[in-house]
Amino acid sequence: MDKILVTGGLGFIGSHTVVELQNEGYEVVIIDDLSNSSIKVLDGIKAITGKAPIFEKLDLKNKAGVEAFFKEHNDVKGVIHFAASKAVGESVKEPLLYYENNIGTLVYILQELKKLPSSSFIFSSSCTVYGQADELPITESAPVKQAESPYGNTKQIGEEIIRDTCKAVPSIQAIALRYFNPVGAHESTMIGELPIGVPQNLVPFITQTAIGLREELSVFGDDYPTTDGTCVRDYIHVVDLAKAHVVALGRLLQNKNESSYETFNLGTGKGSSVLEVVKSFERVSGEKLNYKIVGRREGDIISAYADTNKANDVLGWKTELSLDDAMRSAWLWEQKVRANK
Ligand code: WQD
Repeated sequence: MDKILVTGGLGFIGSHTVVELQNEGYEVVIIDDLSNSSIKVLDGIKAITGKAPIFEKLDLKNKAGVEAFFKEHNDVKGVIHFAASKAVGESVKEPLLYYENNIGTLVYILQELKKLPSSSFIFSSSCTVYGQADELPITESAPVKQAESPYGNTKQIGEEIIRDTCKAVPSIQAIALRYFNPVGAHESTMIGELPIGVPQNLVPFITQTAIGLREELSVFGDDYPTTDGTCVRDYIHVVDLAKAHVVALGRLLQNKNESSYETFNLGTGKGSSVLEVVKSFERVSGEKLNYKIVGRREGDIISAYADTNKANDVLGWKTELSLDDAMRSAWLWEQKVRANK
């Protein structure tokens, strides 16, 4: 079976995608610089699939290192590119780090793919490119808006770089997957989200509060024009998201894509408010969550959820897991992590 490179393959979405690629029979090689992940994730992947992916510790900003990698692994047929810095707040403080890491490394990888007879490239993008969309649910033809952060801008610029490269280099076929809000963990509790420091995202903050690591959850505003006043997002189970990558890759490897570059929104198609997520957690965990309503968070959009028709119809993919499934898996994972501390 084809050899696939997964950059950032020890990260949250990357590790779950490696598991699904191995389940599909692909040979996987991971590049990760371990700046925001743990080598222990490799054991977690092996515990699930029984197969240890090839692992290369490499900072993709090292152009010579990237060249050497592709010289050694010149039989790579596809690349799923997760490796990037992704903290919205940090990107505002350190834009140059984000442009160097997220854009520079993308260019180095594409330059290597250009040398191969043919290659398939899946890009980890984000619904953040839409900003606050004018129409909901959000389709792939919704306008890409002025990014709210350098992080979001690196996703927009990344998509443009790939689009232009695919036009100029016919041997490269690419798909950009625009994620909504990935949550949850693998049912085995062998892998899951491992936020470093205080979690920025809602679900790890909820589980860390429930386990007693955090005092209480701050709900950032309940005065938005939504059903209960709190922001609405499309929370997609990370396993459903991982499976979408395998389907998208298969589409490219079988040369089924209509053009050399396509984008797909990956979400459940359903919006959930912050308080609905809290209620889901309480329902599946039996825990009463300690939270308080505080002021709005700078930069938050009101509501975002995906129109999933294109991914459903063209990829033949749809989510199978619910918000409750995601919260249950996130809670089991949190308890496992704490038990192993
Ligand atoms: C979700 C909702 C918060 C924490 C971010 C990135 C996006 C993507 C996904 C990478 C919001 C509320 C949160 C808390 C809260 N990442 N919240 N208390 O901001 O939708 O998206 O992660 O691609 O690019 O921007 O996710 O989980 O931070 O917030 O009330 O302690 O939960 O206000 O309404 P977000 P989030």
